[in-house]
Amino acid sequence: MKQRFWMAALALMGGLPLTAQSVVKLQTSAENAPMISKHLYGHFAEHLGHCIYGGFYVGDTAKSIPNTNGVRNDIIAALRKLKIPNLRWPGGCFADTYHWKDGIGPKDKRPAMVNKWWGGVTEDNSFGTHDFLNMCEALGAEPYISGNVGSGTVQELADWVQYANFKGRSPMSDLRASNGRKDPWNVKLWGIGNEAWGCGGNMKPEYYADEYRKYATFMSDWENTGQLMRIASGASDADYNWTETLMKNIPINMLGGVAMHHYSVLNWNKKGSATNFSPEQYFGIMKQALLMDELVTRHAAVMDKYDPKKKVALVVDEWGGWYDVEPGTNPGFLFQQNTMRDAMIAGVTLNIFNNHADRVRIANLAQCVNVLQAVILTNQEKMILTPTYHVMEMYNVHQDATQIPVTVNGVSYKLGTDSLPAVSASASKDKAGLVHVSLVNIDPTKSNEISLDLGSSNFKQVSGRVLASAHIQDFNSFESPDKIKPAVFTGAVLKQGTIKVSMPPASVVVLELK
Ligand code: AHR
Repeated sequence: MKQRFWMAALALMGGLPLTAQSVVKLQTSAENAPMISKHLYGHFAEHLGHCIYGGFYVGDTAKSIPNTNGVRNDIIAALRKLKIPNLRWPGGCFADTYHWKDGIGPKDKRPAMVNKWWGGVTEDNSFGTHDFLNMCEALGAEPYISGNVGSGTVQELADWVQYANFKGRSPMSDLRASNGRKDPWNVKLWGIGNEAWGCGGNMKPEYYADEYRKYATFMSDWENTGQLMRIASGASDADYNWTETLMKNIPINMLGGVAMHHYSVLNWNKKGSATNFSPEQYFGIMKQALLMDELVTRHAAVMDKYDPKKKVALVVDEWGGWYDVEPGTNPGFLFQQNTMRDAMIAGVTLNIFNNHADRVRIANLAQCVNVLQAVILTNQEKMILTPTYHVMEMYNVHQDATQIPVTVNGVSYKLGTDSLPAVSASASKDKAGLVHVSLVNIDPTKSNEISLDLGSSNFKQVSGRVLASAHIQDFNSFESPDKIKPAVFTGAVLKQGTIKVSMPPASVVVLELK
């Protein structure tokens, strides 16, 4: 509030304009615009901290927390409302240590394991394949399984596919039936390892490409659905050579997707607090989030060389903000609060994905519950929705809608001598003909007057919702769970083919045009 007061006082003295102006143009008549896959709105649940155990899964015996087969009912309801399209599991780094056969059959007979990467905790394997795939059915989400390449075998992963997908009688489908599930789950999305350049085995790209070819060969699409999608473990950030080596060495017909990971982090050795951050740290994180545009553009350009028809998807299966853990929590559990800064990351990143929907067709926010940029935080029986949750819920109108290309001519958000575009936008038209425009003003010091140029389209009505708060550091807590939530937006006025939108500082707005 104090900061706002001084900004306002300065503006009155003629020092600073408090309102900036931008023009966003919708190309409503663009031809051959791609569909924005609903899978860009995917999530990620690793065996890490309290994402699965103590998050999604509270065990069959938890009495005080309503659950179905051990999975919290409140989480299922919240994620269904979000229209969660897919869920990636069991890792992350954990995936390359996970032996799926240890997680099936009677729970009291399952061997324990030590989670090497995340806190060295002992797990009892009580949440396994059936628990995950049944949970995905309850969520109405496609499962996205990350297979173990680093410490697993080709046979092990081939068996997992048969166990999940084979319809008739086979060693694995018989085993599945003996564990209580007759029908296959038909899992379509399969990752072949994770971060193979790092925790997944410290491989070189040439070596991994060969490993990939071998694994992919034995992962059969048993029912010939043509829908089994094999996804290669991808690059970290700007490692374009990784993508190039995979594209060059793996035949296109063996490759459904190539992954890429990018986290918005200030400095891996000094990440800073999730809630108590300076204007410089905020600016630095926004810069990292906006870098996603360059990363997907350049990885996509490499892919275009080998796959001009864009058959292979770019899969950003880990993204989000990464800060220091909350004071007093286990450093290996990656538990962090989630502020309006995270809402800004989510808004601009989803706009970038929408605008690159021709190539980016799957993405997974890291992670879903209690880890990194979570949409849900839990504490015993309490559950809260974060600002990031609200952005993802507001944006779900874009899922499987046709992209409307946009151009943004806006002012810059400046800090010292550095500057970033203040406004980010994307738009789509859904199957019912409704047009949605999502806008983000990342500048925490200025509102933004946006002229939305609608081209030749004739709309009669505009409505919308806004997510904003007094301070960029604001967050929802267990004591104040609804401090930040979407509100009806009254700042859009339609007049003669243009909509004037008054965006508050650091806000996300989603408009619906009819
Ligand atoms: O999301 C946390 C970790 O970040 C994942 O396990 C790993 O893939 C990445 O480095």
